[in-house]
Amino acid sequence: MILNTIKSKFSRKFKKNNWPGLIEAYKSHLPVDSKTPIITLKEGNTPLIFSEKLSKIIGNDTQIYLKYDGLNPTGSFKDRGMTMAISKAKEEGCEAVICASTGNTSASAAAYATRGGLKSYVLIPDGFVAQGKLAQALMYGAEVLSIKGNFDDALKIVQDLSNKFPITLVNSVNPYRIEGQKTAAFEIVDDLSCTPDWLCIPMGNAGNITAYWKGFQEYSKKNQKLPKMMGFQASGSAPLVNNIIVKNPDTIATAIRIGNPVNREKAKVVKKESKGDFQSVTDTEIIESYKLLAKEGIFCEPASAASVAGLIKNKNRIKKESTIVCVLTGNGLKDPDCAIKNNDAMFQQNIEPSLKNISKKLGY
Ligand code: F0G
Repeated sequence: MILNTIKSKFSRKFKKNNWPGLIEAYKSHLPVDSKTPIITLKEGNTPLIFSEKLSKIIGNDTQIYLKYDGLNPTGSFKDRGMTMAISKAKEEGCEAVICASTGNTSASAAAYATRGGLKSYVLIPDGFVAQGKLAQALMYGAEVLSIKGNFDDALKIVQDLSNKFPITLVNSVNPYRIEGQKTAAFEIVDDLSCTPDWLCIPMGNAGNITAYWKGFQEYSKKNQKLPKMMGFQASGSAPLVNNIIVKNPDTIATAIRIGNPVNREKAKVVKKESKGDFQSVTDTEIIESYKLLAKEGIFCEPASAASVAGLIKNKNRIKKESTIVCVLTGNGLKDPDCAIKNNDAMFQQNIEPSLKNISKKLGY
């Protein structure tokens, strides 16, 4: 039975109910000590879910798992990096943090900053941030500046600002972000009791693929085979796939609408060292995978579905009995507009509320 094959031997020290947050759980692998004030919302320890539908689609006795990082406290993987970045900023005596964001980084930075008693400033591209993410940044009390430009323009400005003024930059150029995010790879190794053959992951600024690779390298046992790192971008926003700068990136997956990734060089090293590949997927393929995942009960945001669209695209390249993990980076609730516009559901409105009428509508 599938349940037996996926029964994971949890080697983590903490049971679900008293999970202390990822810094405490993995502190021997992280640059923290007794002087570090740990700012946590108990992030990490997200589920690795076996996908029956995807395993069937890929066939060949493959096992496909989904690392559902949309179940972090602010609904995305950014919380892994932000608990580290904000804790270290606080340790270093900083009073304010700043980031550019397509949405999730700003939500996470705002949440952890306010929890740590720090001020947060965020720059976002006007009109291209999903509603849920904007709502979060505002509620957590960030000062939000929506600019007439894209993410790449915003990042350039916040980098300059953080060089000029005493404000800590918490985008993924901040090395503590990568340190925190690498713990997702630790959790996968703990859950599977091995490394997967492939890791499929969406790429924007390429911080997360860099973090996962660092995590697998540090956490796997000697001589253990490391996964091929398969990075996917939207075809209208694919600077790493095509090795170019995209001046006007465009995709429905606004989270990865980035034309000049700041971690470009690091990503190239990951691809080479892991013998991986970077490929693009169309918005149509992204939305198909987004819907497919939802039909298995898993609601992720469009950018996250790029990992699954990429997996499906490589069906014929996958070796028999492979174990593959697709990273679902953000929660579907972040972007309700996209879901409402892109679903196959029966949704009838303005219905007369009588038993007779509704029975008829339901076909009884
Ligand atoms: N998936 C989601 C849901 C994201 O929000 C992002 C990046 C990525 C994937 C790509 O990760 O940049 O490390 O390659 N979001 C950033 C933000 C840019 O501002 O929230 P990456």
